[in-house]
Amino acid sequence: MARYTLECVECGRSFSDDTLLKCPECGGLLEVSLDYDEIEVDRETLERRDLGVWTFRELLPVSTDDPVTMGEGGTGLHPCPRLAEELGVRSLYVKNEGENPTGSFKDRGMTVGVTKAVELGAEVVACASTGNTSASLAAYAARAGITCAVLLPAGKVALGKLAQALFHGARVVPVDGNFDDALAVVRRLAEEGLVYLLNSVNPFRLCGQRTIAYEICLQMDWSVPDAVVVPVGNAGNISAIWQGFLDLYELGLIDDLPRMYGVQAEGARPVVDAIRSGKEDIDPDPEPETVATAIRIGNPVNAVKALRAIRSSGGWAVSVTDDEILEAQRELATTEGIFVEPASAASIAGLRKLVDRGEIDEGEEVVCVTTGHGLKDPEIVMETCELPEPVEPDPERIKERLGLG
Ligand code: F0G
Repeated sequence: MARYTLECVECGRSFSDDTLLKCPECGGLLEVSLDYDEIEVDRETLERRDLGVWTFRELLPVSTDDPVTMGEGGTGLHPCPRLAEELGVRSLYVKNEGENPTGSFKDRGMTVGVTKAVELGAEVVACASTGNTSASLAAYAARAGITCAVLLPAGKVALGKLAQALFHGARVVPVDGNFDDALAVVRRLAEEGLVYLLNSVNPFRLCGQRTIAYEICLQMDWSVPDAVVVPVGNAGNISAIWQGFLDLYELGLIDDLPRMYGVQAEGARPVVDAIRSGKEDIDPDPEPETVATAIRIGNPVNAVKALRAIRSSGGWAVSVTDDEILEAQRELATTEGIFVEPASAASIAGLRKLVDRGEIDEGEEVVCVTTGHGLKDPEIVMETCELPEPVEPDPERIKERLGLG
């Protein structure tokens, strides 16, 4: 069991009250700070276990031996030689988070976050979501036997994600507004003590997402890639992944750290603008818009942490257009067989841009994190594919259609 405190990312004060979701002194975000001296892990022990979030149980801030789990994590780190050649890098791996139980990286956070919610005796868990968080929370709440409430930006959630949230029995409320509006409301409900909040302001949830970094290192035999490219929405994931690398570095399990690169959509890019202009914080965008609905976020709550992660790692942030995202989505599917949703493809489109601009060198080793499965958003795919007319089951006609013989 990990020894830890909750540390405020603004004022640096530490707390040991697990019910806190923000700093009682200054209102800043809280982060789990592991007591590295108290944690005993070594490479061989970790390697012997089946790969997944709970492989790293010594680093996870819960005290039960009976977590709410569905075998999350353990996703593939796929070498992508054809795409690497296309994009002009020596070596490219895709860490494919679509392979998680509900089809996105959110499950890593929810197995830890919902386990903590149960530990704290929560009866209603809640989130605002662009879709994946709600799908994941709905599933883990069902598994834990507790009530789930989700607030979604009306008309802007991909079909697969909506179906998941509804089907797992969550109380779903579409909100006339965007994700940022919905998050403001659900934070208020949490402050009133009506729900336990599982958005990425929840420090325990983000510890689960650190395991993306833990797994990458283990899968690469404890070497570290030069660059890690991550799509950015509410900015929790890139911060968590960076903290994951720092944890392993502090524990002496790795000897290097990667540069972290964030990718946003052109129409929702407050983090990119802040990086470009050298600002300490973002200017929120009141009207974010992109085909990649998962990252259609104008006021990311974890922005300050993400800016620090990107800067202190020596990385950068870029934005990509909707066309570039959709082209990268198709390219990954057709050259490497990996089907991801548009937000995830932003990492591939972003890598292309980073290589073109010389941010990432052609001799480097890169990991792109693809965050959600392509089947989450079938509608966007069908908009770009033409459905062929049916023909009779006649071999000659079919050969003709297939261009064979
Ligand atoms: N990719 C996908 C597929 C996502 O669903 C999200 C976030 C991100 C990337 C960005 O991650 O927010 O940690 O920077 N989806 C959230 C949701 C906002 O509600 O499902 P982030």
